[in-house]
Formats: sequence, structure tokens, C-alpha cells
Amino acid sequence: MLMPHLTLRQIPAAQPAIAQAPRLHVGIISDGNGRWATSRGLPRSAGHRAGAEAARRVIEAAPRIGIHTLTLFALSSANWKRPAAEVHAILRLLHEYLLTETTHCIDEGVRLSVIGRRDRLPATLRQAIADSEAATAKGPRLHLRLAMDYSAREAIYQAACRFYKVTELSPESFSTVLQEVHRGGSTEVDLLIRTGGEQRLSDFLLWECAFAEFVFLQKRWPDFTAADLDAAVKEFSRRERTRGALPDAIAG
Ligand code: IPE
Ligand code: MG
Repeated sequence: MLMPHLTLRQIPAAQPAIAQAPRLHVGIISDGNGRWATSRGLPRSAGHRAGAEAARRVIEAAPRIGIHTLTLFALSSANWKRPAAEVHAILRLLHEYLLTETTHCIDEGVRLSVIGRRDRLPATLRQAIADSEAATAKGPRLHLRLAMDYSAREAIYQAACRFYKVTELSPESFSTVLQEVHRGGSTEVDLLIRTGGEQRLSDFLLWECAFAEFVFLQKRWPDFTAADLDAAVKEFSRRERTRGALPDAIAG
């Protein structure tokens, strides 16, 4: 019912309240750790450590911003081309993260899972992943997916290798097989954020980003805050997503 003292024009526009915010799958290409460190005269590994802190902040903020799934690009399969010392530093950090954060994830209702190849990861890290996944499996508030030794092309290829056994061929059944390759979790990305100034997808969630909205930021990942995540989600909610159809105003 209209309030009697307001004309139509004066009715305040509905603010996207947090409680009514869309339930989103957000993917983040967390880039810029190395440059962040180098610009401070620090070793690149210090940038990765600071990046892990940024990840903690974002994971904590995500559920109240309306995010149900958060996929973070922790280590790309392409990163094996980097010096072994840097890759090992990243793997050590990921291991450390799993050991220190699993209890916190349980307390916060976060289900943690890992997508990507596991066969090239150290056995101790593989075990830590399996333990964290099992311990947090029932987390209802946020599905946190860490992409480690991840390549979207590789995941799609793995799904294609399994697909020939599927009898009901459809894009949906292919998505289901891809989900199996990822060991569960939603596949469609709503919002893709990339920090660090580059504007490319770098083999991250190629299938899942088909209709994603992209937000590219100059800011380097260690400087990324909960407020930046909030701003990106607000930017997302201002965009009209037609998925190839006509905008509402034109379609009538
Ligand atoms: C992203 O930061 C983190 C990982 C790849 C693990 P970079 O390490 O790519 O940082 P820049 O792009 O060199 O600054
Ligand atoms: Mg980079």
C-alpha cells in the first residue's frame, strides 16, 4: 500500500539490504601478491603470506554480504612454471592455512573444499586437504572452494573423458560431470573479481563463468578488504543480467 503523504516519485528506492542480498557464487582471481611485496622491498613469499591474510578477511565477511560460495584461485596449474622455491612457499602456506583455519571454519559454519589436481601436491598437503574437507563437510553458511593446482581446461578435459560413459547427453549432464570432477559444489559463477590490474581469466572456471559479471580492480590482493568485496557485490547488483534475453524495460 502506498503511504498517503508520498507521491510515486517520492517513494524511496529500495536499498539492497544485506538480508535480501542475492545468494551469490563469487570467484576471485587473487592477483598481485608478488608486486605488493616487491614494491615494499620484501620477498615475494611475504606477498603470498599477506595474501593469505586478505583471504581470511574476505572469507569472514563473505556470508554476511550474501555469498554462499566463494572460489579463490590459490594456485594455478600454470604456476608450476615459477621457481620451485616460490611454488613450495605457496604450498607451505596453503598447508599452514588448512592446519590453522579448519577449526575456525567449523566454528563459522564454513565448508572448505579444494578443486584442482591433487596428484602433484605433496602427500602431507593432500592429507590435510582430505582432513579439512571431512571436518568441515557440514558447514552451512559458506562453501569455500580453494583452487589449488587448478586449470579450468584440465577440469573440462577430465569431465569430457568421463562424459562418454553418460547416456543422457546434455549441457546439464555435462555440468553435473564437471561438478563431479570438482567433487561437488555449485558451478555457476555470478561474480568474478580479479585484483592486481590484469583483465583476463587465466584458465579459471571457464565453463562456470559463461554468464558471470566481471569486476577488475587495480588494487593488489594483499590490500583487498571486506569493504572492497562489499563494493564489488554492490556493483554486481546494479548490473542488469539478461543472459542473452532482452532487458526487462524493453521486453515489457
Ligand atoms: C597471485 O599473485 C598469487 C598466486 C599466483 C599464488 P602473484 O604471485 O601472481 O603476484 P604478481 O602478479 O606477480 O604481483
Ligand atoms: Mg600474477
